[in-house]
Amino acid sequence: MRQGSHVIVLPFPGQGHLTPMSQFCKRLASKGLKSTLVLVSDKPSPPYKTEHDDSVTVFPIPNGFQEGEDPFQDLDDYIERVQASIKTHLPELIQDMKLSGNPPKALVYDSTMPWLLDIAHGHGLKGAVFFTQPWLVSVIYYHVNKGSFSVPATKYAHSTLASFPSFPMLSANDLPSYLCESSSYPNMLRIVIEQLSNIERVDLLLCNTFDKLEEKLLKWVKSMWPVLNIGPTVPSMYLDKRLSEDKSYGFSLFTPKSAECMEWLNSKQPNSVVYVSFGSLVILKEDQMMELAQGLKESGCFFLWVVRDTELDKIPRNYVEEIGEKGLIVSWSLQLDVLAHESVGCFLTHCGWNSMLESLCLGVPMIGMPHWTDQPTNAKFMEDVWKVGVRVKAEGDGFVRRDEFVRCVGQVMEGEKGEEMRRSAEKWKVLALEAVSEGGSSDKSIQEFVSMFC
Ligand code: UDX
Repeated sequence: MRQGSHVIVLPFPGQGHLTPMSQFCKRLASKGLKSTLVLVSDKPSPPYKTEHDDSVTVFPIPNGFQEGEDPFQDLDDYIERVQASIKTHLPELIQDMKLSGNPPKALVYDSTMPWLLDIAHGHGLKGAVFFTQPWLVSVIYYHVNKGSFSVPATKYAHSTLASFPSFPMLSANDLPSYLCESSSYPNMLRIVIEQLSNIERVDLLLCNTFDKLEEKLLKWVKSMWPVLNIGPTVPSMYLDKRLSEDKSYGFSLFTPKSAECMEWLNSKQPNSVVYVSFGSLVILKEDQMMELAQGLKESGCFFLWVVRDTELDKIPRNYVEEIGEKGLIVSWSLQLDVLAHESVGCFLTHCGWNSMLESLCLGVPMIGMPHWTDQPTNAKFMEDVWKVGVRVKAEGDGFVRRDEFVRCVGQVMEGEKGEEMRRSAEKWKVLALEAVSEGGSSDKSIQEFVSMFC
């Protein structure tokens, strides 16, 4: 291995992208390849300097906004400014690395920013695209982009539409959301579709999945492109407590209330708690939050509910006093620690791909309440392929009633079906551990990547 070999890794600035890509950096480090993780900061003016974790160098760049401006008011504007900032600062970083006699070998970039391939190639670096969604979703986008798959006009059309290897027929309700809601989210649609627009020129495709998870579809994917599945990026010691790997959670944009969660969970019986979280981005309407709050209360189970600070004012007045010891609401958790806790019996999730993988790897059955983007398709995996959860039944406008939450919690926490899900989840957990253990499929992929660039 050549001294000083290294790569640059650039996630989209969102927790669902930062989590797997920062864990990927740690995996590379464990095999001797250094990386610089470029973080677009959520602060307008981050300290423009590098910071060192034990294994990963973090290089923050500004998000292009001035102090006092709200970056999230206009998504288009946000994306444009982030793009402009990266286009200024990334070439400078590469140039500095070259001048110091240690040029990076590759740029690993988030699939939502395909234009980074040209920057990589323009500077003589290999370009490796990183997908934080399953292959099935990427393949659907690929076909839509090529014009070989047309989508229905409405999301709630239930006719079956498409079939993919080893996958049940998909209805419109199972497709990635923007495809059927193109008029509401034209820019999001463009971003997700364009992920695969220049795929023929990409040097390598990385995905946070493992071979057994999408086995048959993968045959087709591998026949098309140079692919390495490197997931799940969950630190191995969560999968097997005997492993002493550094379990630090990579990089977080939120501050977890870890001690509070653990203390509360420690006081509960095994499998008695429903963990509820909708990831870093989903925003529920106020009436939906109210309904969920009532549903959790009426379920009779204990629940630990992550409600981000920005969502807190949607919690019904006096709710915290009313639920007392039955529930704990926190602004952010250390999700892996929560899912690994024996008190947690089920995860009510928005079906973000990271959350799904984490729950699967820790053997926790799920209740899926997908919201947008890849989540409806991820929910289909959960319910009909892995058979580790149920999807809530929403009304025509997407609203989920409290009785439905009560029904799903009862089914997963108490019924025979819940036991079956737990058994299935345990099987997937074993396969995930196999993939990341020494000599497993994902471990070999990481080794192959490291060998390419050392
Ligand atoms: C999004 C999409 O939903 C996902 O499908 C896509 O492919 C990547 O980006 P997000 O909506 O935030 O991400 O959800 P998810 O993919 O589940 O990622 C959230 C991450 O935050 C997970 O790694 C989860 O462990 C972590 N988290 C969440 C916490 O650590 N604590 C919390 O309280 C909530």
